[in-house]
Amino acid sequence: MAKINVKVCLGTTCFVMGSANLQELIELVPRKYGDKVEVSGSPCLGLCSIDWEFSKAPYVKVDDEVIKEATVEKVLAAIDKKLK
Ligand code: FES
Repeated sequence: MAKINVKVCLGTTCFVMGSANLQELIELVPRKYGDKVEVSGSPCLGLCSIDWEFSKAPYVKVDDEVIKEATVEKVLAAIDKKLK
């Protein structure tokens, strides 16, 4: 099975909007899922500039799925859904 790839945006907008809290995922995900999931921080994913006015930052990508207003819980839920 292919690995799930999680990218936590650490660009300025997402960082200001709270992605600092999401850095916890970078430790938590490998502990919880082992090598089934690859997680990394990423520079701006280019999503914040698309709808800046209605920004739903911070963004996280789980494979091709974009998670808006991401929280640790939302990201874990998305991973669990994919692993099913
Ligand atoms: S800073 Fe996160 S998408 Fe741009």
